[in-house]
Amino acid sequence: MNILFYDTTTYDKKSFDEELAKHTDVTITFQEADISEKTVSLAKGYDAICAFVNSDLSAPVIDKLAEIDIKLILLRCAGFNNVDIKRASEKGITILRVPGYSPEAVAEHAIALALAAGRRIHKSYIKVRENNFSLVGLTGVNLYKKTAGIIGTGKIGAAMCRICQGFGMKVIAYDVYQNKDLPFVEYVSLNELLENSDLISLHCPLTEESYHMINKDSIGMMKKRPIFVNTSRGALVDTEDLIKGIRENKFFAVGLDVYEEEAINVFENREDELLEHSVTARLLSFPNVIITSHQGFLTNEALAAISEVTIRNARNFAAGNVKDYEANQVK
Ligand code: NAI
Repeated sequence: MNILFYDTTTYDKKSFDEELAKHTDVTITFQEADISEKTVSLAKGYDAICAFVNSDLSAPVIDKLAEIDIKLILLRCAGFNNVDIKRASEKGITILRVPGYSPEAVAEHAIALALAAGRRIHKSYIKVRENNFSLVGLTGVNLYKKTAGIIGTGKIGAAMCRICQGFGMKVIAYDVYQNKDLPFVEYVSLNELLENSDLISLHCPLTEESYHMINKDSIGMMKKRPIFVNTSRGALVDTEDLIKGIRENKFFAVGLDVYEEEAINVFENREDELLEHSVTARLLSFPNVIITSHQGFLTNEALAAISEVTIRNARNFAAGNVKDYEANQVK
């Protein structure tokens, strides 16, 4: 199995090289450029390509992959909303992903954002570096005895519920299905959750139904000036409405690992550019907002699990065993 690996970073190469050392039947060529209509032809002659969460796997790219006889796309991530699944099935291309490499990695990042934004750690870090030891503007809020509202209680949301319970919080949740492994969680309607939560954290996937689920109406229901955290997908939130809500002082703090404009930023170094009217620049102008660049997954443990499962997926596909691994197959 020869794989062309798009959009390689140093940390990808390190974890995949460690995993490849255990197998002789898989080779990977690491390619810096991400996949696009221009770079798709580089995959000619390979058996599979490996791509990431923001890679362009739209219909035109899928069509070109089919033309050069690629039969397998290995996603080294859980999310697949960047892939035209229907077109891939029509073209006979299988897509395998890594459904749950380390839910705790993302949940721990979500609580890190809640704490950093809620305790103004991002501000105090910069102030102390500038020898400014004044505490003015740094007052935070306790999480202990407050209510955490978790939207989506799958693998990551469940880990977040456990963390919040550990902080001594009451945990309420909204999901289309209830998770039976969380007896301490009280399931409520979305409206009740929005009204009663001091911390709101999103952990559901982006679907037609969940698109812009946080908008001016849902923000209007948040009665407790919550800390709001999104580590799930940017388009779950209507960013213009979020910015308006922050301006109107509806949030105590906001922590975002994902946001609608992220595709042009994520994993890029744009430090020499003027961001002009960008959503990112506007969000960062608020003292109670902290943004990270889709790094929720980025721990040593998660990277090791991603490389292990991706290479296992490749080997199973080559051995014709994919049907035994339906759970990894995107439908
Ligand atoms: P999961 O599939 O285990 O859980 C998702 C949960 O959301 C399920 O319980 C499902 O019933 C629920 N759900 C679906 N639609 C809903 C809706 N409209 N309202 C409320 N709940 C709904 O997924 P997992 O592994 O927990 O991941 C959650 C999300 O986290 C992913 O979809 C992805 O967008 C994001 N993610 C972010 C990462 C990062 O680095 N920031 C890394 C990995 C995932």
